[in-house]
Amino acid sequence: MRLGQKHETHATMNTDDKLLIRALKGETLSIPPVWLMRQAGRYLPEYRALREKAGGFLNLCYTPDFAVEVTLQPIRRFGFDASILFSDILVVPHAMGRDVWFETGEGPRLNPLTDDEPLPTLNLESFHTHLAPVYETVGRLREELPKETALIGFSGAPWTLATYVIAGRGKDEQAAARQLMFSNPERFSGLIDVLTDAVSHYLIRQIDAGAEAVQIFDSWASALAPNSFDKYCVAPTVKIVNAVRAVHPNTPIIGFPRGVGSEYADFAKATGVNGISLDQTESPEWAAREIQPHCTVQGNLEPMHMVTGGDAMLADIDRIREALSGGPHIFNLGHGITPNADTANVDALLRRIRG
Ligand code: CP3
Repeated sequence: MRLGQKHETHATMNTDDKLLIRALKGETLSIPPVWLMRQAGRYLPEYRALREKAGGFLNLCYTPDFAVEVTLQPIRRFGFDASILFSDILVVPHAMGRDVWFETGEGPRLNPLTDDEPLPTLNLESFHTHLAPVYETVGRLREELPKETALIGFSGAPWTLATYVIAGRGKDEQAAARQLMFSNPERFSGLIDVLTDAVSHYLIRQIDAGAEAVQIFDSWASALAPNSFDKYCVAPTVKIVNAVRAVHPNTPIIGFPRGVGSEYADFAKATGVNGISLDQTESPEWAAREIQPHCTVQGNLEPMHMVTGGDAMLADIDRIREALSGGPHIFNLGHGITPNADTANVDALLRRIRG
């Protein structure tokens, strides 16, 4: 009854009517929907205050009261068209039994996977139990977000997760993971396979809980040579897309094989994702020609503009808008907004796009 009453008292909007979803389903909109990667984070004073109170980053991720609040902060302040679940890609290896912690001022750390250790396995029951607070956060966000705001779930991609599992952190062009890839291909493929399975189950549960689109972050895809890119980025993404669509055929999927240049287009064609998140090193004119015919383009403003603002920012916003205006486009940055960003520049960006 409680849920039924909520739906009567709160106006709702169908997922398919939300601007982000319309763009991901191929519609060309005169004003593109806009959200920013890492829109919840340290550039917001209200985030820093809550992180202090939570006593650690992972506590934010695993406490639904905190995670819901942090997700809502940038929506309240800026009114973005989409909200992304507040969490981190490393909750997946954590839920598979790897130790994960955050070094203040540095970033995430894991115990590196040593050669004599067995590969991590996927015990679905303990995996989902560990991640239950994330699913709860997703469900609560669907109730608390403004009715027109789409909710995006996400996961790290198998390759990027494998780099952290193997090396314990991101560094040295992911040399440790690339070394294992060639010195022990069977072991490396085994790790990619179990992570592919885990990511598929994780995304399906986020959608079960209320996520209306999902993004797969392959942040270190640029470290892969072409053959390895096909085997360890494209092929696992195809498996994930198929697994998710078998259960949730209508939920759009955004791929982000960051920094792969012309291979973005091959990735779009081979995986059939609904959208490609594009980093800032590609020209929007190229993306309009090579990617927009296959799927929606999300991007791709240089994140540094959020620090420096001014006419250079406005000129790049206008160029991206213009270049991608003939097809489906979601306005975003090429990578996450940084802690030194100025909120006034985010305001100026939204004014420029929405008029
Ligand atoms: O976009 C959002 O607002 C949602 C939240 C989100 C976070 N991490 C929060 C976070 C998302 C989508 C991520 C994804 C993530 N995490 C990726 C893929 C995207 C990318 O940026 O390439 C990666 C590689 C990670 C791993 C990770 N988490 C790193 C390397 C770091 C340290 C660097 C940094 O920016 O601090 C984190 C920490 C992290 N994840 C923070 C936040 C808000 C900062 C934590 C803090 O408060 O100190």
